[in-house]
Amino acid sequence: MIRPTEDLVREHGDILAMIQVVKEMVRRLEAGEPVDPDHIEKAIYFIRNYADKYHHAKEEDLLFPAMHEAGIPKEGGPIGVMLAEHDEGSGYIATAAAAVERYRQGDAGAGAEIAANLRNYAGLLEQHINKENQVLYPIADAHIDQTGQTELRWIFDKVNSKPDMVAEHDTCKAILMELDPIYLGDPDEEQ
Ligand SMILES: [Fe+2]
Ligand SMILES: [Fe+2]
Repeated sequence: MIRPTEDLVREHGDILAMIQVVKEMVRRLEAGEPVDPDHIEKAIYFIRNYADKYHHAKEEDLLFPAMHEAGIPKEGGPIGVMLAEHDEGSGYIATAAAAVERYRQGDAGAGAEIAANLRNYAGLLEQHINKENQVLYPIADAHIDQTGQTELRWIFDKVNSKPDMVAEHDTCKAILMELDPIYLGDPDEEQ
């Protein structure tokens, strides 16, 4: 059986790939280079739907409750920190999203606002993901017993195969495939 946390680590890989794209968007914005507002909206769509709706929902609704049931406190401990960071990230994204329309209309201040919030988001999520991979998931693996792991596996598979989740997953992966070469280029080309 593939451990449920292995799914989440794999999803972190996709989120980190989008964070690389976002960091390049931030670099360009801060350098005063134009960034297509549609691309910013697509990156935000990915973050809201893949990172939040798809990935964080699995953590918040399924993994964390299973950890709690296995005796790990919900408040104060590592789970509480993870939840607070999910909220903090959503806040940065909401502020960036609210500025996109103004940026589209040529407001340079809006560009700086987007850059600052995406920069904060990228930094937060990189260290958040690192903590989950290195600390939180190993705690989950060690504390959730075999029955709990099997139950989580079953429900993760059910969520993963829901038609609306499959569609959202595919849409988000397509966004990543579209933006990646525009912002990170083809590494072979640089040689
Ligand atoms: Fe998380
Ligand atoms: Fe995560």
